[in-house]
Amino acid sequence: MRKILISGASRGIGKAIALKLLKEGHYLSLGVRKKDDLNNTYLDPKANNPESFLVHTYDATNPKSSKLWVERTVATFKNIDTIIHCAGIFKRTNLIFNDNDIQDIEELWKVNVMGPWILTKDAWKYLSISTSARIIVLVSMSGKRSKGNLASYSMSKFALMSLCQTMRNEGWQEGIRVTAICPGWVNTDMAKEITHFPKKDMTQANDIANICSNLLDLPNSSVPFEIAVNCQLEKTI
Ligand SMILES: NC(=O)c1ccc[n+]([C@@H]2O[C@H](COP(=O)([O-])OP(=O)(O)OC[C@H]3O[C@@H](n4cnc5c(N)ncnc54)[C@H](OP(=O)(O)O)[C@@H]3O)[C@@H](O)[C@H]2O)c1
Repeated sequence: MRKILISGASRGIGKAIALKLLKEGHYLSLGVRKKDDLNNTYLDPKANNPESFLVHTYDATNPKSSKLWVERTVATFKNIDTIIHCAGIFKRTNLIFNDNDIQDIEELWKVNVMGPWILTKDAWKYLSISTSARIIVLVSMSGKRSKGNLASYSMSKFALMSLCQTMRNEGWQEGIRVTAICPGWVNTDMAKEITHFPKKDMTQANDIANICSNLLDLPNSSVPFEIAVNCQLEKTI
């Protein structure tokens, strides 16, 4: 069984992954901004074994919270061999943005890029101890191609993809394998706020959870670096 950190587990894709991996018996450490969000759900700490399940406060904009979360997880589980980065935000910022939009761009940078970077950095020495650690990152198709006018979101996801490539390079010898999952629309709160694309035709969060579960079964020699998940045809990808 793996000892897994999942960020952004309060909702959406992160929550679906947490539920799936909990059922499979992994050790789970969930990072959320408000722990109360999980009260009276299957992810409520009171409903789970404290030796293999914990929920910790984590805010990607606060680097200290990442360190505290990692330390508390190692104190409880003895190690960490997997990180699944799901915390992320969307902002619509045009290329020619207004002066007051700069805050949105800075927030995207902090949450979507520096958040996963700092969390990975803080957990790296523990991942390195395992000979088959995994890092799964929810990037996006917006990290592979720039479509329309999503200047800031796409910038953050391209930067995140570049970080994934460096993590792969730096972790290869120690058996750390990295996968960048790149979906188009996934049926969560985030997509609901952006598009009118029919929810039933979107990729479902449970499908991403199944992909993650399968990834964790693969040996070092077979882990794909990138998985593009399309719910509509993209002719150039
Ligand atoms: N949905 C899509 O169509 C889609 C497509 C491609 C990629 N993605 C990516 O997949 C990831 C998950 O997206 P989703 O669809 O599950 O989004 P979501 O339903 O909006 O959930 C976002 C998650 O991120 C957390 N989060 C936001 N800001 C945070 C912060 N400062 N610190 C810690 N956690 C924070 C949220 O916590 P709170 O509950 O506290 O807000 C929530 O758990 C994101 O990186 C997103 O960019 C999504």
